[in-house]
This record gives sequence, structure tokens and C-alpha cells, in this order.
Amino acid sequence: MMQQITDKVYYVGVNDRVKYRFEGLWALPSGVSYNSYLVVDEKVALIDTVDVAFFAEYLEKIRNVIGGRPIDYLVINHMEPDHSGAISLIRKYYPDIRLVGNARTFGMVSGFYGEDAEGGVEVKDGDVLSLGRTELTFYLAPMLHWPETMVTFDADRGILFSGDAFGCFGALNGAVLDTQMDTSVYWPEMERYFAAILGKFCAPVQTALKKLSPLPIRMICSTHGPVWTAEAARAVETYRRMSAGETAEGVVVCYGSMYGNTQRMAEAVAEGAAAAGVRKIVVHNLSVSQPSFVLADIFRYKGLAIGGPTYNGGLFPVVEDLLKRLAGRSVAGHKLAAFGGFTWSAQAVKVIESYNEKMKMEPVAPSVEWKQGPDAGALERAYALGRALGEAVREA
Ligand code: FEO
Repeated sequence: MMQQITDKVYYVGVNDRVKYRFEGLWALPSGVSYNSYLVVDEKVALIDTVDVAFFAEYLEKIRNVIGGRPIDYLVINHMEPDHSGAISLIRKYYPDIRLVGNARTFGMVSGFYGEDAEGGVEVKDGDVLSLGRTELTFYLAPMLHWPETMVTFDADRGILFSGDAFGCFGALNGAVLDTQMDTSVYWPEMERYFAAILGKFCAPVQTALKKLSPLPIRMICSTHGPVWTAEAARAVETYRRMSAGETAEGVVVCYGSMYGNTQRMAEAVAEGAAAAGVRKIVVHNLSVSQPSFVLADIFRYKGLAIGGPTYNGGLFPVVEDLLKRLAGRSVAGHKLAAFGGFTWSAQAVKVIESYNEKMKMEPVAPSVEWKQGPDAGALERAYALGRALGEAVREA
């Protein structure tokens, strides 16, 4: 069916309800959409494409809108293959289509797909492409979240074709516009998407938000999730808040445990945080919880307690995996409580503290270490650590 968004603008994206892990990494319990748009004026522009696995459905959607009419331009806001994957096939079906991208885009078109950019339109920041009445203006937004990323603005309709920015996980269940659906499921998925995909790029997100702030945006057409109209401001505010590192009062307790000893310490930490009056406490067993959900909670809340046992002369792998992910993300504003156990050689706490040299969180108390099974004294120290963390996030 044809899905018209507004005058001359159509949705031709697809839903992926099959992929197990986005980027091979991030769980997709509700799927994901790859959004693409057609602007049909005197000239026709296709804005981004979709994962190539969905090409047959994609082509049918395009033809449902424009029939046998040719497409004049393919605007490439972002080259990650969930959006660029269909470029080669689109060029086969529409051989006269002209690629529109910036200087970095065309190198990637060649690098990923062996395609030349013959006939391409290379745009610079602020350049305008006329489709007739519609004029598209391009704004470079590097590292949002790749070097070539840019956004496209239709000033007449106030539409920002934003690429991944303001996107979220979750396939679209019938409707495309936020005004025609219950959007409540998408907001936590936007936070999870941000934490997983954009969490390393908070500074470029802030730069882009400042650059785009003068634009009279009435509608946001991103490459993942709903089209934001009535709730566009909330989408912008979510990205602003998360990229600024603003967190709510709350504590996330993350731990790994082989035989339950670290888990008992984690429970004591959580009890201590609760005793300090913190109401929002999330506990993640890192052997069970999916990393993107853990990261989303860490981006939500001010306090992080992290603990694990020593393992093979280092730190228990699932705990170190989380630390590696955090070391590459903007989380410096957090309060930290570390705890770690050992059987004969104490390493866990040392490893956690060494990762914090990159994470730059503020420790609220000395790390807690214990040997073998935690005795009452160790559990009391874990409780006190949790209490100190709880008090710190309440004061912040
Ligand atoms: Fe949705 Fe960065 O690709």
C-alpha cells in the first residue's frame, strides 16, 4: 500500500522482524525499520535506501508511489549498509538516477559497492538542490555517527530527513506517523538506540543539535522508527539530554557471578542504595542481560555499581565486556562504586579501576574487595558501598 506522509512526501521503508542482532551486536526484540522516503515534485528524489535483503519489497513500494516514472536523485545521508545497501540495485533499476552526497560519501560508495559516482551531485554544507517547488538543503553532520553523515532539510514543509539521528529500534506496526500510533513503546527504544549506537558520539550530536537548532523543524523523518511530528520536540530533547550526559536519580548495579558470591555482594550493594532512599534501582546480571539494555539503563541513571570475580588472572569476561563498551562512550558524569572478589590473586578491582581511567566516573568510596565467599563483614562493606552510592546520586 502507498503510505503518504504529507504533500509530495511518501514513506517507502521496510520492517526487519528477522534480524537477531542489529550490527551483529544489539538485541532486536521488537525488530527495526529501515526508513526511506520519496519526494515527488517536478523531479523525484529518493532519500536513503534500505537493507539490500528487502530490495524486492522496497522496489514494489517505490513503484506503488511513482509507477514507471524515473527517479532523478538518490540522496545519501548515511553510508552504513542498513541504508546504503540497495544503492547498486537501485542504480540497476534506475540507471539515470544521480547520487547526491558529500565528498566523503562517494569514496564510500566506491569502497563498499565498487560503484563510481558518475553523474553524482557532490554537495557541501548548506548547498541546495531544487526538485521544482521543493528545495532540499544539505547540512553536514560528521560523526553522527560516521564521517560522511549529513542531514537534508525541506524548508517548505519543515521536514528534516535526519539519517540515524532521532531514530530508534522497533519495527513500525502499521502506521508511520507518530500521530497515528501509540508511541510509548518507542521512547525506551530510542534511549537504547542512542546508548548503543550514538553513545560514543555525544559531542558530535551536541554540535549537530546546535547547528540544526535555527531550522523550523516541523517533522523529523529519520532512518529508524516513527516519523516524528507532534512529538518531534520530544525526540530532539531526548537526544539533547542523552548527549549532554544528563541522568536521573537512580542506580544501576551490574555484576557477573559464577557461583553466587558476587551476586550476594551485588544484592547488598542494591540494598544499601535502597536504604539511602533511591527508588530507581536496576540490577543486571551481565551473564543474562543484553548489553544494549544495560547501556540504556546506565545512560538513564546517575549511579553505577559494577562488580565481578577475578577470572583467569583478570576480570570476569562479561563484566570486562561492559567496561570495554563504557570506556568508548561518554559516561564521565556518573558516580561509581566498584566491588570485586578473588580466590587466590586479587585482580578484579584493579581491572575495574584501570578501565575507569578512561570512563572517568567519580568513585564514591574505595572499592570493596573480598576473598572467596563473602563473610558478614564483606557484605556489610558492600552494603555501605551501595549506601554511599545512593547518597551520592541523591545529592547530585
Ligand atoms: Fe542505521 Fe548508522 O545506520
